[in-house]
Amino acid sequence: MKVDFTLPKHIGIIMDGNGRWAKTRGKMRVFGHRAGMNRLKGIVKTASDLGVSALTLYAFSTENWRRPKPEVDALMSLLLEYFNNEIDELHVNRVKIRHLGELSGFPKNISEVISSAIEKTKANTGLQLSIALNYGSRLEIVSAVKSIASDVKNNKISIDEIDTELISNRLYTKDLPELDLIIRTSGEQRLSNFLMYQAAYSELVFVKEPWPDFSDDLFIQTLREYSERNRRFGGI
Ligand code: IPE
Ligand code: IPE
Ligand code: MG
Repeated sequence: MKVDFTLPKHIGIIMDGNGRWAKTRGKMRVFGHRAGMNRLKGIVKTASDLGVSALTLYAFSTENWRRPKPEVDALMSLLLEYFNNEIDELHVNRVKIRHLGELSGFPKNISEVISSAIEKTKANTGLQLSIALNYGSRLEIVSAVKSIASDVKNNKISIDEIDTELISNRLYTKDLPELDLIIRTSGEQRLSNFLMYQAAYSELVFVKEPWPDFSDDLFIQTLREYSERNRRFGGI
């Protein structure tokens, strides 16, 4: 698959609107999450075929634990299903998987399947697919601050050595390219605790369609819109 415009290197997607998608069809929210998982598979394939370097998908926030337990459980089993069913094909397509967030606190079967997917694909050189799961930007920054403070306390680094690069290197996104573009589906226009530090100069695109309706065509249209933006990074 080829396009005639410049692609972002690193795309973050806030996959929102599964519940409302289901509601308009008179179905349970989990029905929307299943449709959302199918769309996730499609977008990962398209991003990989296009040759995008990095794709980061917001799948479960540190605040999503506030949802009713049956919904949380359903999301967990969908995730398990996704990794179990897709890992071989992802590996064949040279996709490298990583996880952003805290794995502790997850049921053991989930953390094991994610750890083994990361291990299996660690040498792959294709799309870098990061799944933000139990991810929160504020928690990420708290962890970074703690690790830096501890290094200062133990005289491993001096306060003067703390700079933006050092902080970037303590975030879960360490080693990933700059975040060029954030897409949020379903019409909401907020970050909801997603990659706040990394978003400093990201382009933001909000699309009306809920996540299960975010087709490959819409994705490519969004990437074209990105390519037409004028990024100045504070310059002129
Ligand atoms: C996004 O869809 C998926 C997750 C947060 C896991 P929602 O479940 O937030 O759907 P809406 O926003 O309620 O429609
Ligand atoms: C953000 O969506 C989290 C994910 C897509 C995983 P939410 O639906 O949880 O965000 P809010 O509550 O509308 O801000
Ligand atoms: Mg939502």
